[in-house]
Amino acid sequence: MSQEYVSYKGYIFPAMSTSVMDLEFAENELQVRDNDIFNITYPKSGTTWMIEILSLIQTKGDPKWCKEVPNWDRGPWIEAPGVAEKVQQNQADQRILSSHLPKKVFCKSFAGSKAKVVYTARHPKDVVVSFYYFAKMSAFFKDPENFDQFLKDFLAGELPYGSWFDHIKGWMEMSGKENFLFNTYEDLKKDLRGSVKRISQFLGKDLDDAALDSVVNHVSFKIMKENKMANFTLVPDTYMDHDKSPFMRKGIVGDWKNHFTVAQSELFDEIYKERMKDFKMKLPWD
Ligand code: PPS
Repeated sequence: MSQEYVSYKGYIFPAMSTSVMDLEFAENELQVRDNDIFNITYPKSGTTWMIEILSLIQTKGDPKWCKEVPNWDRGPWIEAPGVAEKVQQNQADQRILSSHLPKKVFCKSFAGSKAKVVYTARHPKDVVVSFYYFAKMSAFFKDPENFDQFLKDFLAGELPYGSWFDHIKGWMEMSGKENFLFNTYEDLKKDLRGSVKRISQFLGKDLDDAALDSVVNHVSFKIMKENKMANFTLVPDTYMDHDKSPFMRKGIVGDWKNHFTVAQSELFDEIYKERMKDFKMKLPWD
């Protein structure tokens, strides 16, 4: 397994899950349509959870699509190999498109379109823990030496997909625009039903109570963990080894407390304060 990274405009990406050609196509060629829905996240912030939510909102709570089609076909990552080209040919009325791309290298044709963005953020301390386990189980990433080094690389913005701080700040420049919805992993955990309702209203797809109940039920951690179309167990072991750490790992808020030392937490807080001092919005963990 190569575990190499490719460089693109100052960012690194796993060579197994993208290439410079893919990134160039996504940024320069992909034609965004007004009725596209983008599921945007920094890695490990709730991407697959949101694909499930958006899929079920689209089917008004009918779980058939989620049970029969893998999530990477329902809400493909536009930066994945050959995907943006495939997406370009997709004639579906409404495309659900996922991406971890920083705003700076996102599709140029998005500017000026009416495509909607649901941006999901998660407490960065939980992101780094989830990312650490994912980097261990997935052949896309270099095996982390240890948590301390991984954390330092995260804080320095040296992991694939770039800096968490720049990612959220870049995308939040869209805040206040009518085609942009900010959401957090923590909100989903605290009030899943209310969050689903808010997202469906944003998408102009009001759901009745029964449909809402069905969405909420089918996006629970338990059901998604058992659904092979959502839990990535269809991916060969050589790419994702769920014995090392399952993709659907814990699904909780605050797991960082089980991993950070006091010194690591203090260092994190110091860097967070400095990097987020120009960020106006209050986040659930602030
Ligand atoms: S990826 O690889 O970047 O696309 O990963 P991503 O999907 O963004 O994040 C994976 C984490 O989200 C958790 N997850 C969930 N939590 C609660 N409920 C549901 N339904 C759910 N679905 C996915 C998943 O377990 C990963 O978090 P950790 O903390 O590692 O468990």
